[in-house]
Amino acid sequence: MASKILIIGACGQIGTELTLALRDKVGKDNVIASDIREGNEELMSSGPFEIADATNYNQIGDLVIQYEIDEVYLMAAMLSATAEKLPMKAWDLNMGSLFHVLNLAKEGKIRKVFWPSSIAVFGPTTPKHDTPQTTVMEPTTVYGISKQAGERWCEYYHNKFGVDVRSIRYPGLISYKTLPGGGTTDYAVEIYHEALKTGKYTSFLKEDTELPMMFMDDAIRATISLMEAPSEKVKVRSSYNLSALNFTPATLANAIQKHIPEFEISYAPDFRQAIADSWPSSIDDSEARTDWGWRHEFDLEKMTSEMLEGIKEVYHV
Ligand code: SER
Repeated sequence: MASKILIIGACGQIGTELTLALRDKVGKDNVIASDIREGNEELMSSGPFEIADATNYNQIGDLVIQYEIDEVYLMAAMLSATAEKLPMKAWDLNMGSLFHVLNLAKEGKIRKVFWPSSIAVFGPTTPKHDTPQTTVMEPTTVYGISKQAGERWCEYYHNKFGVDVRSIRYPGLISYKTLPGGGTTDYAVEIYHEALKTGKYTSFLKEDTELPMMFMDDAIRATISLMEAPSEKVKVRSSYNLSALNFTPATLANAIQKHIPEFEISYAPDFRQAIADSWPSSIDDSEARTDWGWRHEFDLEKMTSEMLEGIKEVYHV
């Protein structure tokens, strides 16, 4: 019998596509989507949906019992830029929801957990290029601190209580089905929308700010393949480095200009520049590649074609 899956935060940027991909794979009734608000039409019409607050243990626990859930993907979180403005709320959401799910697993109510971490776990004292899996981690953002603490708790619950928790340090994720919200890497999504709508974009990061990035299809494939890997192959129980592309706003603008030659970019860095400056510019993900066979498929050119086509289709621009 197929596993019953609960996705918490199913209406967000990752949650939407993860829900759709898992429903395709294991059948729509085996994937219960939940969020504090309804999602887009495609998500809502694709299978069961429940309103639930990730910070409410009883609401999440009730869904787990009601639907006889085996696996939880906890995608609800406050991202880096918003978390700087609402530090306590970010901590409560990012940590509270994780404890609820880890405790449900510890109590034997669920079998497997996926929890997303981020390149934000790294900080200014981390080696910036080809950042290794194991290295100095002194995050300077509220979001990064919550993700780093979360990683430690995941590993602790695995070692102490045998919880089967798996995690990826996502780079900036680029997609067209659902917009990201409140992140530092969001410019790399906004730029495509503005290129099609107005032919110009003002970047909130400087032209030479290089960050690790990935197209959503690759991120979803990585997530599902990590969750499907035999337990003994998942050697890292904090969170895996994962890498595909690294680029700057200027390089991305260039790739867009190959499709839209008149596209213009300008720069007006804001508070998000300091966040980006504290993060790595490239990531060494050799452990993910060795342990569970990760390979990325999308380069900058392929991603740019998909993004422009996808946005035209979804938003009719
Ligand atoms: N994309 C996220 C952010 O910018 C990083 O995990 O906050």
